This record gives sequence, structure tokens and C-alpha cells, in this order.
Amino acid sequence: MSDSINYGPLSGLVGSWKGDRGLDVAPEENGDIERNPYWETIDFEAIGDVENAGKQTLAILRYHQQVYRKSNDEQFHDQFGYITWDSATGVVSHSFIIPRGVAIVASGTASEANSTVTIQMDAPAEKASDTISQSDFMRDNAKTTSFGHTMVLSGDELSYDMTTMLDIYGREFKHKDKSKLTRV
Ligand code: HEM
Repeated sequence: MSDSINYGPLSGLVGSWKGDRGLDVAPEENGDIERNPYWETIDFEAIGDVENAGKQTLAILRYHQQVYRKSNDEQFHDQFGYITWDSATGVVSHSFIIPRGVAIVASGTASEANSTVTIQMDAPAEKASDTISQSDFMRDNAKTTSFGHTMVLSGDELSYDMTTMLDIYGREFKHKDKSKLTRV
């Protein structure tokens, strides 16, 4: 890992964030849809860079996201991951795990306009066998079939929109999470 690292479009993410405007849309077994307002914290740390196969260098952020149901303040989602940027190609990659037994690598690009950075990453259905890994139980009962994630960063405001496609309770379900946070 080298000392002077250019984190490119990821540099504005570094720090601690908090938001209380999250909305989760999750499936229910009886066919209903559950809507859960939430608050959350996300901590992004700049941790250096890494070289892959002698020809790719990635600048790395590591993060931890903790999400709490507004109705009872109990944590109901936890996520650890890395977001990387390859300065040679502009590719941004997001690898993360959730404790249900699912791991994902979503990739995409970042763009900047009017001091706003937009990062779009996905793990599309046609690449799911390479980018989505899950326990036998989840594969058979609550399978993640694709994932898409957009982050919009504007100074001290960060918003995101995540869509996780699930094959659950005998139907395709669009599990959505969107939120807006401010820098702490
Ligand atoms: C802010 C982010 C998220 C929140 C607040 C959240 C919350 C929830 C909730 C409340 C459920 C329903 C649980 C139940 O009633 O049993 C659920 C289900 C699920 N979530 Fe998430 N989720 C988030 C992100 C994700 C992501 C990124 C993934 C995939 C990598 C994911 C994968 C799943 C799966 C596979 C299920 C089905 C399990 C089940 O309902 O039994 N979630 N989530």
C-alpha cells in the first residue's frame, strides 16, 4: 500500500454519516409489502491501495453501515464492505457482505457535474453467478438475483438508492432501500 493515494470520486465519502430519512421496502410471506422507515450510520475509512495481478491498482474505502428501525430503534440491517476506484479505467467496485449469508460484488462508474458525484454500480442478473454469492439456504428460499446501487454525493449530503431483486415466497420481489444522510 502506498502513502500518497488518489481516491478520485470516492474521496468525498470519507468520514462518518448519519441519516433518519431511510425507507426500506421488504417482502412479507403473505404476499404483502412491508415498509420500514429507518435511521442509520455509515462510516467510510480511506485505507490505502492494493495491486492486483501486477497491473491493476485500486484505491480502497472500507465502510460499515448500521441501520435501525425507527419504530423501535432496534438494528435490523448491518453491512460491511469496500468501495474501490481504479484510476486507470475509472471503474468503481463495491464488494460487501450482509449477515443473512449474502456477498455481492457490484461494479460501475462515477461521474461528476456541478460539484455532485454520482456513482452507479450493479451486479446484473446475467452476471449473477460471478458477482453474487449466497448460502444454500438463501439460494433455495430467499435468493438474491441481482443488485443495483446509486449513490449521490453533494458536499455534506449523501443519498443512495439500492434495489435488491429477490426470488422469495414464490415471487420476484424488488427489495428497495433509499436514504439521505448528512456528514457528522
Ligand atoms: C438499508 C438496507 C437494508 C435494510 C434496512 C433491509 C431490511 C430488510 C428487511 C426488514 C427484510 C425483511 C425481513 C423479514 O421480514 O424477514 C429484508 C429482507 C431481505 N433482505 Fe434486506 N435490507 C437492506 C438491504 C439489503 C441488501 C443490500 C441485501 C442484499 C445483499 C438484502 C437482502 C435481503 C434478503 C435476501 C432478504 C430476504 C430475507 C427474508 O425476508 O426472509 N437486504 N431486508
